[in-house]
Amino acid sequence: MTQVRPRITKAVIPAAGLGTRFLPATKATPKEMLPVVDKPAIQYVVEEAVAAGLSDVLMVTGRNKRPLEDHFDRNYELEEALTRKGDSSRLARVRESSDLATMHYVRQGDPKGLGHAVLCAEPHVADQPFAVLLGDDLIDPRDPLLTRMIDTSERFGGSVVALMEVPPEQIHLYGCAAVEKTGDESDIVRVTDLVEKPSAAEAPSAYAVIGRYVLDPAVFDVLKQTPPGRSGEIQLTDALRELARDETPGGPVHGVLFDGRRYDTGDRGDYLRAIVRLACEREDLGPDFRAWLRRFVSEDMQA
Ligand code: G1P
Repeated sequence: MTQVRPRITKAVIPAAGLGTRFLPATKATPKEMLPVVDKPAIQYVVEEAVAAGLSDVLMVTGRNKRPLEDHFDRNYELEEALTRKGDSSRLARVRESSDLATMHYVRQGDPKGLGHAVLCAEPHVADQPFAVLLGDDLIDPRDPLLTRMIDTSERFGGSVVALMEVPPEQIHLYGCAAVEKTGDESDIVRVTDLVEKPSAAEAPSAYAVIGRYVLDPAVFDVLKQTPPGRSGEIQLTDALRELARDETPGGPVHGVLFDGRRYDTGDRGDYLRAIVRLACEREDLGPDFRAWLRRFVSEDMQA
């Protein structure tokens, strides 16, 4: 009898990182709260999970991350003040984040790496497949990567990673996958091996693992056995490497090849590009902002 795989309903968002690349902005504010136009980066990520049908969201947080909990909670004082003013559009904006999903929080305690952060989700996730979304990656809502990954996991079982081709000089920033064609759809490959942050010479391919995963719950047992890897941390990539071996429960591992719009808000340059792009596309801000941007660039940044 074939076992019916439970539907994926839970998303896990690791958010315990220190955000040192954005100091001093992140000295007293979590990096996930940095605004991308007028919404904190993390809200885009939760919206993406919800758009893919995952309305149960667990954030793995740490010290100094209270603003994240407050952001996804009601703010009665503010709501009352906006109601009194009759400012219904801002009131709706304020309520959006608290109405979005059912939020849960767990603290990571020791920052022992991404694999360890995922392991902190075990009591909440238990024995169901689940998605992991890394907060530094924003995926444009017009390119529904996570939905494609969920479909792939329902079809093949096991676990699914998102892969993006990057130039050799960037591969050391990512997990890297060795892949085989699956034969049918051109954007789905079988992952045969993974290496965390290899040098260009060691990299088995140009495919970088980007921050979206659909994981079989067998990953928890594997993570418990995974020794510290690169940077002395427990790496999710190392556990996935184990799952990718034929005989391990929780596999196989498939990859969805993604060539859509992705912004790495953990990198200052990409963060600025994300803001400019998204601002240009906004109906309310876009027309004025685009006109200014054109002048600014054509007049040698004097506008
Ligand atoms: C993490 C993972 C890495 C992955 C990357 C995607 O690294 O360890 O395998 O490629 O996310 O953004 P980090 O960027 O947290 O150093």
